[in-house]
Amino acid sequence: MKSSEIHGFYKKTRSERISALKEFADLSEEQAKLLAKDSPLEFETADNMVENVVSTQQLPLGIATNFQLNGKDYLIPMAVEEPSVVAAASNAAKIARKSGGFTTESDEPVMIGQIVLLNVPDLEGAKKAIKEKEQGLIEKANTVDPVLVKFGGGARGIELRDSEGFLFVHLLVDVRDAMGANAVNTMSESIAPQLEELSKGQAKMRIITNLATHRKARAKAVFSKQAIEESFKGKDIGMTTDEIIDSIINVYKIAEADQFRATTHNKGIMNGIDAVAVACGQDWRAIEAGAHSFACISGKYKPLTKYSKDSDGNLVGEIELPIAVGLIGGAVKTNPTAGACLSILGVKTAQELAEAIAAVGLAQNFAAIREIATRGIQAGHMALHAKNIAVMAGAKGEQVDKIAEKMVEEKNIRVDRAKEILEEL
Ligand code: MEV
Repeated sequence: MKSSEIHGFYKKTRSERISALKEFADLSEEQAKLLAKDSPLEFETADNMVENVVSTQQLPLGIATNFQLNGKDYLIPMAVEEPSVVAAASNAAKIARKSGGFTTESDEPVMIGQIVLLNVPDLEGAKKAIKEKEQGLIEKANTVDPVLVKFGGGARGIELRDSEGFLFVHLLVDVRDAMGANAVNTMSESIAPQLEELSKGQAKMRIITNLATHRKARAKAVFSKQAIEESFKGKDIGMTTDEIIDSIINVYKIAEADQFRATTHNKGIMNGIDAVAVACGQDWRAIEAGAHSFACISGKYKPLTKYSKDSDGNLVGEIELPIAVGLIGGAVKTNPTAGACLSILGVKTAQELAEAIAAVGLAQNFAAIREIATRGIQAGHMALHAKNIAVMAGAKGEQVDKIAEKMVEEKNIRVDRAKEILEEL
């Protein structure tokens, strides 16, 4: 079995990194060449993707190493501008893999189409009439997407709810390996006239909801005492491992208690989730909207992860959130880098992709709160930020690390200082 624990990946040259990826993920020669290009998304393609195109926007595409999910190794592509995100995810995955990596699971890929009926004279009567015709409505919805039905998906059921005089009809659709917006919207539109007849109301809304509560992904990992202790080797932080674990749990409890902290806690989670989603050509705005809405589904905005201790005192982290992603349609097929990233991940289904994304969210969060609970976020963050500053000052190659190290040592990470050190080198 191939291992995602690639030692010193960060020390390899770009072409060595691409060769390692090619070998790990059995990438084609063409995909490897594509990754080596600085602008794989050609203007002509981009011009057909959105309107009024003038150029393409670039982001660094990094690879998080060490991930193991349900016993299988993954290299995780992450497109993100923020330093330390890729390194932090890789470090957290390294700690988790010492106790078996991440255990993940997910719901079937069921999305919700909302048909909202207005001016319904008798809400309870309308609900009854719609429920009686549920099977026929499902069949009608399925006629508009025979391809989805052929691949094992299709409309599954109808849920009804009323609020403030509106009748909410939720059409549940198994979208298989699609993100599903198009299929769900078309199906919702197709049954709206019949729903109007049955309810004697008007359907003003026939569209997917991004709060995909039937399509959640979950990941869990044990961050063992021993692995946490090893991860701080050589760094004197003046805390025992038990104290570190208690401190991490307290950081989590603060997020449970306070919306201001929970927002930042979840931002850290989305650092990882969005980075994988962007790399893989997913609609990350849909994931963001769903994640934050789900975070406050209880009526109070909560952290998307939970932490506890097992009977041996190890730290156990868990994450659960809706993740609507697809392997077909959207930018997945048009943006060649997205296709290459999905090949690197090697996921076979949208569910597997959602689970990998959930695991990265958990890893990212653990990495952040581990720092917050111990040395404070700036220690690790600034070391990587210092590299950026060195590059901004004009450093090249080995100069970058030398200047960054010196600035961190001096606790003075500024472009003017980086320029001074550069001149002294
Ligand atoms: C920074 O991008 C993310 C963090 O603020 C997350 C957190 O505070 O948990 C470090």
